[in-house]
Amino acid sequence: MTVTIVGSQLGDEGKGGIVDVYGDAVDVVARYQGGDNAGHTVVFEGDEYKLSLVPSGAVRGKVGVLGNGCVVNPETLFEELDALRERGLDPDVRVAERAHAILPYHRVLDGLEEDVKSDDDLAAGTTGRGIGPTYEDKAGRRGIRIGDLLDAETLRTRLEYAVPQKRALVEDVYDLEIGGDVDTDAFDIEALFEQYREYGERLAEENMTVNCGAFLSDRLESGEDVMFEGAQGTSIDIDHGIYPYVTSSNPTAGAASVGTGVGPGVVGDGEVVGIVKAYLSRVGTGPLPTELGSVDGQTPDGGGRPGEDDLATYIRDEGGEYGTVTGRPRRVGWLDMPMLRHAARVSGFTGLAINHIDVLAGLDEVQVGHSYTLDGEELLTMPTTTERWGDCEANLRTFDGWDDVDWAAVAEEGYEAIPENARAYLDYIAAELDTPVYAVGVGPGREETVVVEDVY
Ligand code: IMP
Repeated sequence: MTVTIVGSQLGDEGKGGIVDVYGDAVDVVARYQGGDNAGHTVVFEGDEYKLSLVPSGAVRGKVGVLGNGCVVNPETLFEELDALRERGLDPDVRVAERAHAILPYHRVLDGLEEDVKSDDDLAAGTTGRGIGPTYEDKAGRRGIRIGDLLDAETLRTRLEYAVPQKRALVEDVYDLEIGGDVDTDAFDIEALFEQYREYGERLAEENMTVNCGAFLSDRLESGEDVMFEGAQGTSIDIDHGIYPYVTSSNPTAGAASVGTGVGPGVVGDGEVVGIVKAYLSRVGTGPLPTELGSVDGQTPDGGGRPGEDDLATYIRDEGGEYGTVTGRPRRVGWLDMPMLRHAARVSGFTGLAINHIDVLAGLDEVQVGHSYTLDGEELLTMPTTTERWGDCEANLRTFDGWDDVDWAAVAEEGYEAIPENARAYLDYIAAELDTPVYAVGVGPGREETVVVEDVY
C-alpha cells in the first residue's frame, strides 16, 4: 500500500517528522517533486539531520527514491550522502533516470531573475537553488536528465544546445558579462561536461539510477509499502498555489503519480495525509491575510498586523521559524481555514497530521482565520488569483488558549492527554475539513507525536 504526505499550507509544516513516524513501517520513501529547496529536519535517536534533497526516510534505513518529477542537483546529492556516511549511516538512495539535473547556470539564472523581479515586488523569494530555471528547461525540452549523465555523447550534445542559449540570456537579456559579473565555469561547456560526466560515473558506480515507475511497481507488487513524500506545500504549488509566489512543481497529491511513474489509482487507493501546522508561516513576498506582525522586505506595504509584532516574535521564536536552507526569519500568522479547505479538496486528504500545537501553548487565546470577506461576501475557500487573495480580509474566530505542559508525557499517554482547549481546536479543524486527525505533533522529535490512527 502507499501513503502520500502532502503539505497543506505554504511549506514548512513539519512534514519530516510525520514522514519519520509513518515512514517507520514502509520499505521505500519516494519524493515526487522539488529538489534541494526542501529543507527538512529529521530527529533520529537524539541526533538532528538537516536534509534538503535526500528523502528523510533514508536516515532511518529506508530506500530513498528521487522520482522523475524531482530536479536533482548532483552536487547536493553527493554532499548529503557523504555527510550521512560520515555520521555512520548507510543511506540507500536511488535517482530516477527521467529526473532533470540542476546545473550551475540554473542557480545563476535563478538569482538574476529574482534580482530583476524584486524591482517590481514580483520576486518569489526563491531559495536560489535553480529550481525554477530547471523546470523551465524541462518544459522547454532543453533540459538535461539524470539518464543523460550516464551517456557522455548525449550529455555533450545537450550541453552544446543549452549553454549558448544561457550565455545569450546573461549577456543579451541581463546585459552582464560572463567572467566579470557572472561565474565563467557555470557557462563553460567543457567545464560542465567534465563535472557532470563525473557525476554520471559516480551514479553508475554506486548503482543509483532507476526507471522509477518500474522500480516502485516491482516493490509494490512484491508486497512492500511505499511512502510518497511531498515537499513544499499546496499554497506554493505552481497550479494550485498563490501564483507567482510559488515553487515550480506540484506538491499536491496528484503529482505523486506523475512524478514517480505509478498510476493514479495506486496513490488514490492509499492514504493521503495532509500535514497542517497549527499556525501559518511562510518565506517570501506576497499577501498573507492572517499575518501577525510583519517582516521587513517580505510583508507587502500595508500588509500584516503591525500591532501584533510581539505575538509574532513569540510564535517565531517558539516555533524556530527561521528558514532551514536560508536562515531567513519566516512570516507568521494564524491558521487560515480557507487555505486548508482548498488543500483538502485538491489532494483528497484521507487524514490530517496537525503539528506544533505546543508552539501555541501559553497564549491566553488562539485565533484562526475561519473565512474571508471579499467584496462584502463571506468566502470559505481561496480565490483563484493572488491579487484577489490579497484583497481578502480574514474573519477571525477565537479559541481559549492552552497551557504549556509536559509534551513528552502527553505523547506517551495519547490523545486524551492533550489539553482540553487544544483538543477543541483540533476537533474544529477536523470538522471543518471533514477529515479525521491521524496524528498530532507536540514537539520536534519523532517521539513527540501523538499517533491517533496507524495508517497501516
Ligand atoms: P523555489 O522553490 O526556490 O523556486 O522558491 C519558490 C518559492 O517557494 C519561494 O517563495 C520559496 O520561499 C518557496 N519554497 C521553496 N521551497 C520551500 C520549502 O521547502 N518550504 C517553504 N517554502 C519553500
